[in-house]
Amino acid sequence: MAEIGFVLNGAPVRLSATSPTRTLLDWLREERGLTGTKEGCNEGDCGACTVMVTDESGTRALNACLLFLPQIHGKALRTVEGLAGPSAELHPVQAAMVAHHGSQCGFCTPGFVMSMAAAQINGRTDHDDLLAGNLCRCTGYAPIIRAAEAVAGTPAPDWLRDAPVAAGPAPFAPASSDELAAWYERHPDAVLIAGATDIGLWVTKQLRDLPDVAFLHACKDLQRIEEGPLGFRIGAGVTIARLRAAMTGAHPAFAELLRRFASEQVRQAATIGGNIANGSPIGDAAPALIAMGARLGLRKGSARREIALEDFFLDYGRQDRARGEFVEVVTIPASAPGLACYKLSKRFDQDISAVCGCFNLTVEGSRIASARIAFGGMAGTPRRASAVEAALLGRPFARATFEAALPAFAADFTPLTDMRASKEYRLETAANMLLRYFLERTEVRVNVLEAAP
Ligand SMILES: Cc1cc2nc3c(=O)[nH]c(=O)nc-3n(C[C@H](O)[C@H](O)[C@H](O)COP(=O)(O)OP(=O)(O)OC[C@H]3O[C@@H](n4cnc5c(N)ncnc54)[C@H](O)[C@@H]3O)c2cc1C
Ligand code: FES
Ligand code: FES
Repeated sequence: MAEIGFVLNGAPVRLSATSPTRTLLDWLREERGLTGTKEGCNEGDCGACTVMVTDESGTRALNACLLFLPQIHGKALRTVEGLAGPSAELHPVQAAMVAHHGSQCGFCTPGFVMSMAAAQINGRTDHDDLLAGNLCRCTGYAPIIRAAEAVAGTPAPDWLRDAPVAAGPAPFAPASSDELAAWYERHPDAVLIAGATDIGLWVTKQLRDLPDVAFLHACKDLQRIEEGPLGFRIGAGVTIARLRAAMTGAHPAFAELLRRFASEQVRQAATIGGNIANGSPIGDAAPALIAMGARLGLRKGSARREIALEDFFLDYGRQDRARGEFVEVVTIPASAPGLACYKLSKRFDQDISAVCGCFNLTVEGSRIASARIAFGGMAGTPRRASAVEAALLGRPFARATFEAALPAFAADFTPLTDMRASKEYRLETAANMLLRYFLERTEVRVNVLEAAP
């Protein structure tokens, strides 16, 4: 029987890998009695279950409720019980939370201190972003942010210097794209698990059994981002957090959109491949990628094919992916200076889009020379606004052109009313986004974050 090996709060652990979809949170609380890691939502929203995971790529804060045990094989794990020093001295973030009155009922506190400890190790000071995935219902965020600011720039304590362990091959986890391709061809009905930020919920909320699974985290060749003259080749296993960092220079609008993708803990686990393959009509990456003209690389056995990303999404819940075929890579151009991405959700952070509109226009002379516009939340799939594009193409880059194109939205989309937004709201805000795009490109400040207080 294969084994899962990792280091837990400094001590080695070995388990027989009987149940690949047992969550780390359940195991910690039920098998180890480590109940400092809290169960709040059990679906990635609240951060009460945050733990710290260290591997060769560094230390990350992750949600234990969305981690299956095989995903921590070979890694070093810290829970809140392992945060204080060997003589029970408080970790600096714990001391700062006390000093700044950052805790009332305390339910959220273990999750917050784990996020803050990971941020301290990584020298990160973007506390508003980093802590957006930790919810507190009683203290209020100001004292918590003050505590995070108090430790920013101070060294992480020596006792937290964890290193990954040599634990042998990862169970249920092919080690390369080749191995995965061969295995998946033989098991075409198996479930591929990348970051598990969607699949985790199939288990914790839908109580589904997943008998035949393969984890993708050991396929290091799927985690590459290659930059060449023709653009970026982004492996399906690249996390949203890494992608965001890689896009900051070349595609700042895309990077900013990814800042608002879920929370730090989810971004550190979720992959671009999972975000595309799940076929969600409200996934955030697809509209931006389609607007950039992304191409998708698919693989089945040794056969590879490449398609325009927009052609992958056939209908709601249906994608152009055969049994035994997986997403290997997505390619995007080196730059897209005309790209703008607008995400509309009920909350700024940690919320799924009601509407996500991405615009990529080029202008030659005074005319619109090319137009790629794609939306999420407006149809059963992420979809281009072809009628709107046609209404803009070749016309002068002027307000009158954009205003004249607005009725074309009704030809492109018949959105649904659901808990996130009504169909009327979706149509109206999509049209407003087009006007916003025009205004922004004519130097009018429209970003609410830039408005004067
Ligand atoms: C709290 C929370 C907030 C979220 N917020 C957002 C948000 O703001 N924006 C957003 O877009 N999404 C959001 N999501 C959804 C989710 O995080 C993303 O869709 C994520 O990118 C999924 O990637 P994953 O690696 O976790 O996929 P997984 O859960 O591992 O897999 C998802 C699906 O893709 C398949 N799959 C994965 N990789 C491949 C591959 N290489 N080839 C073929 N199939 C594959 C799996 O079999 C499964 O069907 C959120 C989720 C949570 C829990
Ligand atoms: S329990 Fe809420 S994020 Fe895990
Ligand atoms: S202190 Fe009560 S939820 Fe944060």
